[in-house]
Amino acid sequence: MTVSEMQQEILRLKRECGICILAHAYQSHDIWEVADYVGDSFGLTQQAAQSDAETVIMCGVRFMAETVKMLSPQKTVLLANPEAGCPMAEQLDREFVLQMRKKLPDYTVAAYINTTAELKTVCDVCVTSSSAVKIIRAMPEQKILFIPDCNLGSWVKEQVPEKEIMLLNGGCPTHVRVTVQEVEAARAAHPDALLLVHPECRHEVTVRSDYAGSTTGIMKFAQESDAKEFIIGTENSIVQHLQMQCPEKRFYALSKDCVCHNMKLTTLGDVLNCVRGEGGAAIEMDAALIRDARRCIDRMLAYGG
Ligand code: 13P
Ligand code: SF4
Repeated sequence: MTVSEMQQEILRLKRECGICILAHAYQSHDIWEVADYVGDSFGLTQQAAQSDAETVIMCGVRFMAETVKMLSPQKTVLLANPEAGCPMAEQLDREFVLQMRKKLPDYTVAAYINTTAELKTVCDVCVTSSSAVKIIRAMPEQKILFIPDCNLGSWVKEQVPEKEIMLLNGGCPTHVRVTVQEVEAARAAHPDALLLVHPECRHEVTVRSDYAGSTTGIMKFAQESDAKEFIIGTENSIVQHLQMQCPEKRFYALSKDCVCHNMKLTTLGDVLNCVRGEGGAAIEMDAALIRDARRCIDRMLAYGG
């Protein structure tokens, strides 16, 4: 089958079976073209809360499919490639956070959405890269323990100086590979380009950027800007997506190493197998886990919407 034949078959089956396909922006272009919605983690969460399809296929990583299931427990939620997980989501466990809560009883725990459902049960609020500043600012609590991404946390801390934000030592193994040397080399090679980065990058990289924001934020900035050239400091798929959307502009990858192997696992073939009922992993969570983990997602949607 050609790519186009596979896409036609996916579109036909998803219409016939009432299936909604959600794709994170780091997915490949052939998947974007069959998705009902493409966006960042906050946008995916909002879509999950709104969709009325009976089956949702998540083309992304496991915590994203878990979020959909928590918001719509009655739906069948399939993770298109069962192996696709986010390593950052596994960095902390529940027991560790419980110990931290004991040590820091007056701190509110804000968890990046890139965490397991189990970990969310012992946190107070979730944030995403596009909503973190808004949510932390809006929360009445003064002392915040921000987990697990210290780079996103440092970026938030800088913008919300009125709060006491404590950080731990976690982060995204993909974005953390980007170095200041690469920033200097890219700036020298493309002196007229603007540097757009994701705040999961090291803090010393983010502070050297012209714009820092979520994947959707980066794409919107590049589309709306009058500038003609951009250095992109996030997962490298975004370079190609932007080049297709804005053919009159030029996009360069900040680092050849900014590739998320987990996001790359899902193929168009996986999506086809899912709509045929022959693939993917159905997300199963018991009612108590959903109830306890969902609290901090609901709080995120209330503050960040
Ligand atoms: P956003 O799309 O929310 O910016 O998140 C980036 C990311 O690394 C998702 O895993
Ligand atoms: Fe996780 Fe980073 Fe990959 Fe996103 S880019 S899924 S945070 S490893």
